[in-house]
Amino acid sequence: EKQGFKHFMLKEIHEQPGVVRASLDAYFNPAESTESPINLGLPADLYNDLEQIQILACGTSWHAALIGKYLIEQLAEISTQVHYASEYRYAPSPVTANTLIIGVTQSGETADTLAALTMEKERRQGREPKYQARLLGITNRPESSLGHLVPHVISTLAGIEIGVAATKTFTAQLMAFYALALDLAARRQTVSKDTLDKIINGLRQIPKEIEATLESQERLTEQLAHEFAETQDFIFVGRGINFPIALEGALKLKEISYIHAEGYPAGEMKHGPIALLDAKVPVVAIAIPGSVYEKVISNAQEAKARDSRLIGVTPVNDGEAAEIFNDLLPISHVEELLSPILTVVPLQLLAYHIAARRGLDVDQPRNLAKSVTVE
Ligand code: F6R
Repeated sequence: EKQGFKHFMLKEIHEQPGVVRASLDAYFNPAESTESPINLGLPADLYNDLEQIQILACGTSWHAALIGKYLIEQLAEISTQVHYASEYRYAPSPVTANTLIIGVTQSGETADTLAALTMEKERRQGREPKYQARLLGITNRPESSLGHLVPHVISTLAGIEIGVAATKTFTAQLMAFYALALDLAARRQTVSKDTLDKIINGLRQIPKEIEATLESQERLTEQLAHEFAETQDFIFVGRGINFPIALEGALKLKEISYIHAEGYPAGEMKHGPIALLDAKVPVVAIAIPGSVYEKVISNAQEAKARDSRLIGVTPVNDGEAAEIFNDLLPISHVEELLSPILTVVPLQLLAYHIAARRGLDVDQPRNLAKSVTVE
């Protein structure tokens, strides 16, 4: 049931505050007498002596994995690689010791992800114990094929997603990665208890901040959709933890509105893609105060100098940001580390409203299926 929403995708975008709440209740609910404020129900031997993490995924799950890598490396200081499952199968990394392999798939049925995990498990069989696969799945369907393939699963708590474009399952995957990275950091003592508490308290504020964003953005994104319904190319830029959100914003727009869009790390624009820019190519820039804010603003300035219309996803509404952006999609002030859960929301809405405006079948885009069970 669409519960009054025009499409399932819009309903599912609006369900995200609830998904974050459910994840907080489930994961940030420690068993007594453990050193970690997080409880994922995973055994200690999955974490012991961990030296490396390999994450295998496709599509939107691959974007969530990139944010997972950022969190795990920055918080828990474990070297982490993210691979497209379809590529990894035919060119895997060398077998390393004490490596955790994580498959991320919301459906639990993506053929490439299952095949890459199976390959990794098989080629490690019979090796010394430290080389054997430690396998973990992150899925919205623990009863799926993935659930049978791997011994341990973090269940994401999105509930059933009907729209083909992943929205709330992405947010649920992000929550699983916050929990995993913080759990690893707590056990390895790579961040102080104060910092952990601060991050967790910040996460607890996120549901109401998504609600506020949804409320303020619905009209703004609809207006922008009106103006951009016939645009042919879009560029999305971000840096650091928001680079994967630029990729995700571009993917959402491509798959449901059929408009060409690319996501780029803002600093890479000058190495080629800036040649694409002119007054017909709008640039959506994610600019969150923190380690890369000034850099993103100066990259946005470079785009503006090529006459691109600039749309800013930012909590800042004065100073340079107010001057440089033609349009603002404002979000609440939020710690950079937590910002992706908020910055993705206006991009989902923008893609949704552009596709709806174009009269397209938002929930069932052409050529796509909810689970991709062919390789
Ligand atoms: C994007 C989308 C796809 C999936 C991809 C992986 O909106 O839906 O890119 O993310 O096919 O699917 P799962 O997560 O089921 O493995």
